[in-house]
Amino acid sequence: SKKLKIGVFGYGVVGSGLAHVLKNSKGLDASIVKVCVKDAGKERDLDAQLITTNPDDILNDPEINVVAELIDDADAAYHIVKTAMQKGKHVVSANKKMLAYHIEELIQIQWQYKVSFLYEASACGSIPIIRNLEEYYDNDLLQSVSGILNGSSNYILTKIFNENSDYKLALKEAQDLGFAESDPTSDVGGFDTLYKLIILTVHGFGLFVHPDEVFNSGIARLSPKDIELASQKGYKIRLLGKVTKVNGNQVNLFVAPKFVKPAEHAYTVESHYNGVLIQGNFYDNQFMYGKGAGAHPTGSAVLSDITALAYDYKYEYKKLKYYGGLEYTNDMDVEI
Ligand code: HSE
Repeated sequence: SKKLKIGVFGYGVVGSGLAHVLKNSKGLDASIVKVCVKDAGKERDLDAQLITTNPDDILNDPEINVVAELIDDADAAYHIVKTAMQKGKHVVSANKKMLAYHIEELIQIQWQYKVSFLYEASACGSIPIIRNLEEYYDNDLLQSVSGILNGSSNYILTKIFNENSDYKLALKEAQDLGFAESDPTSDVGGFDTLYKLIILTVHGFGLFVHPDEVFNSGIARLSPKDIELASQKGYKIRLLGKVTKVNGNQVNLFVAPKFVKPAEHAYTVESHYNGVLIQGNFYDNQFMYGKGAGAHPTGSAVLSDITALAYDYKYEYKKLKYYGGLEYTNDMDVEI
C-alpha cells in the first residue's frame, strides 16, 4: 500500500477521534502531517508544529496526498473538498450537510480529477452502510432503507422513555457527550437524519434528491402527550428516516418520529446508537446496528476510508451508472 500523508481540517470531536484511532492502526502507512484549525491557541493533545490556521498550508502542500475534511461549516467544507480534489488530492469527509447539497457536483469533480472521494463517516457513524449499499445491494431487489440515523435524537428519546428525563436536560447531555452538532437544531429538527438519508439514497438507489423536497419533522415538536400515549400503549418513539421504492420506478423519502412496537428493530436501538433496516426482494430484512455518533465511532469510520484509500478504493456509483431511471416522489401515501 502507498504512503498516505494526511492534512486534517478540524480538530473537534471527529478530528481528535481520528487522531486517537489512527494511533491504533499499526499496519497502515499513514500519518497526520498538518491540522488546520480556526483557533490555534486552544489547548489540544497535538504537536504544536502540526497546527496551522491557513488552509493553503494543506491545500498547496504537494506532499499531502489525502485531505480529511472534518469541520462543521458546510460552506467552508464544500470549498475545501472541491479545491483539494482539483489539486489532485484524495478526500475523505464526514460532512453530511455539505454532501447532501453538493454530492452531485463533487462526484463529477472526483471523476474529472481522477481522485478518490470517500465519506463513510458522514452517515451512521461506525456502521459501514455506504460501502455496503454501494457494493452489495442490487437496485432492482432493494426496496427500502430506513432507520435511526441520528444518535442525538435517539439519545434524547431513550432518556425520556427509560428514565423519564427532561427533554432539555437530555439534549444538553447529548451535546456534552459530543453526539450533537454544534447547532443541535440539525439533530432535533430532523435535518441531520435527512442529510444522511439523501446520501444513502445516492448509493442505494442512484438518485440525487434535494433536501428541500423531502418531508421532514424532527423530535423537537413532540409533546409530553405524545410520549404518554406511546408509553400507555407499550410503544416507544423513534426518529426514523426512510427511503422506499414505490410504484415500481419512484422513490419516496421522509423523516419523522414514529411509534415503534417491541417487536420492531428500532425499539431495541438505544442511547446514541444507530440502526439501519434494509428491506429487499428475496432477502427480506437485514438490520445493521452500531454507534452512530461520538469521537471514536466516527473516527473509526474516517479511518476505514483512509485505509480504503491505501488500496485505491473508489465508490463506483454503480446505481448511477448502470441503473438510473428512478424518479423522486414526495407523495406521502406510502406504507410506513
Ligand atoms: N450529530 C450527529 C448525531 C453526529 O447525533 O447522530 C453523527 O453524525
